[in-house]
Amino acid sequence: MPPARMVVCIERREVVARDHVELYFRHPALTAAVPGQFAHILTEGTLRRPLSFSRLDPASGLAAVLFRVVGRGTAWLAARREGEPLDLLGPLGRGFPPPEPDRPWCLVGGGVGIPPLFAAWARWKASLRAPITVIAGARTREAVVMVEDFRAGGAEPWVTTDDGSLGEAGTVLGPLRRWLASHPQGQVYACGPTPMLAAVAAAVQGHGPCYLGLEQRMGCGVGACLACVVPAADRATWPPWRRVCCDGPVFLAEEVRLE
Ligand SMILES: Cc1cc2nc3c(=O)[nH]c(=O)nc-3n(C[C@H](O)[C@H](O)[C@H](O)COP(=O)(O)OP(=O)(O)OC[C@H]3O[C@@H](n4cnc5c(N)ncnc54)[C@H](O)[C@@H]3O)c2cc1C
Ligand code: FES
Repeated sequence: MPPARMVVCIERREVVARDHVELYFRHPALTAAVPGQFAHILTEGTLRRPLSFSRLDPASGLAAVLFRVVGRGTAWLAARREGEPLDLLGPLGRGFPPPEPDRPWCLVGGGVGIPPLFAAWARWKASLRAPITVIAGARTREAVVMVEDFRAGGAEPWVTTDDGSLGEAGTVLGPLRRWLASHPQGQVYACGPTPMLAAVAAAVQGHGPCYLGLEQRMGCGVGACLACVVPAADRATWPPWRRVCCDGPVFLAEEVRLE
């Protein structure tokens, strides 16, 4: 489905944790998005903010974004109410590919990197014949989102928090390394802060395929301004960068260099 600019009303608004809000929209172009794609949402003034889809449910007709309030744009969005219109560009970018059905699949989310993985899991879980593992980590318990949604769908996520306030103390790296020991050729989909993704990519190197959903600062969101570039792993190619907004935000780990 080609990206479109649309004005959609907020169908539902939920505060899912402290400083975390989920907004639902009803639009067929949004529910047709590929998990890992994002909406570029106009906030106050002229600047848009990129947010991945947390839910893409053609059956109910609802798509959603779940975000953490970190600054002006997300604070403005969090203050919107049900029924208010939002100006949205999307779906944008290149999402996750469908997982290979016979390869064990591990989804590794950090903080607000968990929502796009929930959308991927919900879209493709029924197509897998191999086991699926979900690892959800965050700094502290309030930032571990969507765990109950996974449970409601039949998964039992491994939860980690840096401060030990929920689940295993430490980062997602501990459970991921244990999973890799028993599933050395499994496929890994990860989304979260850049240092986490760099560590995941390093852990998975030499194992099965690893896809990373990057969350980079953005400008235009459609490939024109180069605000979002990350260095390409292969320095010999031209251009020596990749645009997160349109070449990504999902990349094979070996495509990009995370610094
Ligand atoms: C493809 C993509 C998907 C994303 N999906 C989600 C999502 O599902 N949920 C979610 O909560 N956030 C997501 N983000 C991050 C989100 O876009 C930023 O948090 C938001 O733009 C911040 O806007 P602001 O005006 O509130 O903050 P600002 O005032 O602009 O910045 C506040 C703080 O947030 C940091 N920040 C700003 N923009 C980004 C960014 N793009 N990535 C990382 N840190 C940033 C700044 O460095 C600063 O520390 C995504 C980003 C991208 C590129
Ligand atoms: S945000 Fe403008 S090129 Fe990616």
